[in-house]
Amino acid sequence: MRVLGIESSCDETAAAVVSDDGVLSDVVWSQEVHAAYGGVVPELAARAHLERIVPVVRAALAAADVDRPDAVAVTAGPGLVGALLVGMSFARAAAVGWGVPVVAVNHLEGHLLSPLLERPAPPFPYLSLVVSGGHTTLYRVDGVGRYATLHETLDDAAGEAYDKVARMLDLGYPGGPEVDRLAALGDPLAVPLPRPLPAAGGWSFSGLKTAVRAVVRAGANRPEDVCAGFQAAVIDCLLARVNQEVDRTGIEHVAIAGGVAANRGLRARLAALPIATYAPPPGRCTDNAAMIGLTGLVRLNAGLESASFEARPSWEVH
Ligand code: KG4
Ligand code: ZN
Repeated sequence: MRVLGIESSCDETAAAVVSDDGVLSDVVWSQEVHAAYGGVVPELAARAHLERIVPVVRAALAAADVDRPDAVAVTAGPGLVGALLVGMSFARAAAVGWGVPVVAVNHLEGHLLSPLLERPAPPFPYLSLVVSGGHTTLYRVDGVGRYATLHETLDDAAGEAYDKVARMLDLGYPGGPEVDRLAALGDPLAVPLPRPLPAAGGWSFSGLKTAVRAVVRAGANRPEDVCAGFQAAVIDCLLARVNQEVDRTGIEHVAIAGGVAANRGLRARLAALPIATYAPPPGRCTDNAAMIGLTGLVRLNAGLESASFEARPSWEVH
């Protein structure tokens, strides 16, 4: 089976063809119109998706040498409603035209399953840490459609914290990649920062963010050192909970996914753990449609239909 995946939940217009043998094509168009505004502008995102969706889908089909896929999978949430509706309307119309099924896919399920696109793939059960612009969640993945949330952030997502720290330092948007680059040039011990771990479980990055703001205001440290200190604190917090869950569950296969999983510091620290670890290549950590096509494919193969075909801006995975 060959599934066309479509992703338009935020500021990437993406299409990919995924088959039982792997990814046949993977096209991502990153919208640059938002950079000037310091964040994603929903109306501009929707308009840019509308402009790009046809060429992006055409490019994915052509690269895979596919005229008519066997099914279409599209992100139905979480995300910006106007942006989701562009991908969903297009996907439905195309599926009707081709006479093939269309499946609504949860973007977070896409991220948490994305390590399965790589070889070696993690075996079930594995722990999947989804660290993106909107989410910081540790899932236990027992199989397709069988997920348990072990920890979540109580306030900011890790990617959001990266973007806010980048804004404090005037590094542009999205700030994660630039903080990552500067962190590699700095000394993580030069700026001591807290590593808050709420007793209630999960994570909290607001205290860390406030501490970084005070350091930046004081102006005594190099931006490279601030980034290195901040990044070390985020990674310590993330991995402390992961290690706890490895010990508690006895599951020694840990994957990371989502935009922040592209972070070089996090990838290096994860790889150093004495267990089996999995990190998709950076381009498959940030938003893409291969993970949406994969999720559609494995759900269809497992006979799991989605309950509805509606845009769901705050759709969570349980
Ligand atoms: O998964 P993603 O592409 O979109 C969402 O679903 O949110 O994640 C985007 C987030 C942004 O906050 C961005 O700053 C962050 O991932 N990010 C990074 C890196 N690359 C992207 N954060 C840290 N280091 C990176 N290299
Ligand atoms: Zn995402």
